[in-house]
Amino acid sequence: MTSYHLPVMAAMVVELFSQCPGSCIVDATVGTGGHAEALLLTNDSIQVIGIDRDSSALEICKARLERFGDRIRLIQGRFSQIERLLGEMGIGTSQVTGILLDLGLNSLQIDTPSRGFSYMVEGPLDMRMDATQGTTASDLANEATENELVELFRANGEYQNARRVARAIVASRPLHSTAQLVDVVDRAVPASARKRKGHAAKRFFQAMRVYVNDEQAELAAVLDASMRLLSDRGYLITISYHSGEDGMIKAFMRYAETGGCQCPPQLPCQCGAVSLGRMIFRGARKPTRDEIDMNPRAKSARLRAFERVIQKGK
Ligand SMILES: C[S@@+](CC[C@H](N)C(=O)[O-])C[C@H]1O[C@@H](n2cnc3c(N)ncnc32)[C@H](O)[C@@H]1O
Repeated sequence: MTSYHLPVMAAMVVELFSQCPGSCIVDATVGTGGHAEALLLTNDSIQVIGIDRDSSALEICKARLERFGDRIRLIQGRFSQIERLLGEMGIGTSQVTGILLDLGLNSLQIDTPSRGFSYMVEGPLDMRMDATQGTTASDLANEATENELVELFRANGEYQNARRVARAIVASRPLHSTAQLVDVVDRAVPASARKRKGHAAKRFFQAMRVYVNDEQAELAAVLDASMRLLSDRGYLITISYHSGEDGMIKAFMRYAETGGCQCPPQLPCQCGAVSLGRMIFRGARKPTRDEIDMNPRAKSARLRAFERVIQKGK
């Protein structure tokens, strides 16, 4: 039996999408189809378009959801290309009433040693979500300069030990396995830092994974595209798992809400900024204690939701 990734905060996702009019939801991180299945099961009139860059996840998703017939359509690709991907399927902007971004990795990716995502099991230093594309973590570890690695680790919030680990990576080349990288990190960071906020290697693995998969640029592009794609009153729902991503989403939603207007709030807007919609609630929602007990990987999840409002004539 295939074990699926457990969808995080699925009841809230379903509930939120039930409030927006229309019936075409794009699950841009469909993975093995947990959220998509929940949406398809709870509303007979919904059609889901599932996108994922990982072909092995899509294969599982396809088998899982084929019973829904033409209510589910799947396509492989990066969500930064969402407009082109939907265009190829004949789906135009006014048809999209919801977009879901459940970021990060699916459990299959984490739990398959040969994918090289996990610092807990030995495997090749790979970390590509789409195993046919681009630079691997091993290329990065063996080819980046010490300064490039430092910059990369700092950009992921790892300030204290970035230099030590970067230097140790350069000195230990060539690195080809996850176990080698864990060992390098373990030897480079002081004992006090080793257990801060979990295993020290976790943060360095995450920084490399974000780089290898160009995750920041991917997210920036799909957030922008979502505002062009969503129909009036359509919803964008995001679930992120680390503060870098959540910060980007929060800043994006704030900007989209105000249109960048900085006029004094007590005066009418003079700058002509156009709001793209509104945040459905302030701040981010978190999973319940019960959900975290059942699925510890949900712990860091932060869910945000934005309603696109198209202003007449704009
Ligand atoms: C947390 S999982 C989603 C799980 C899914 N919601 C479920 O219930 O099974 C994130 C998925 O997003 C995919 N992904 C991450 N970045 C992507 C990108 N830029 N474009 C397309 N898919 C991406 C990953 O391959 C992974 O399958």
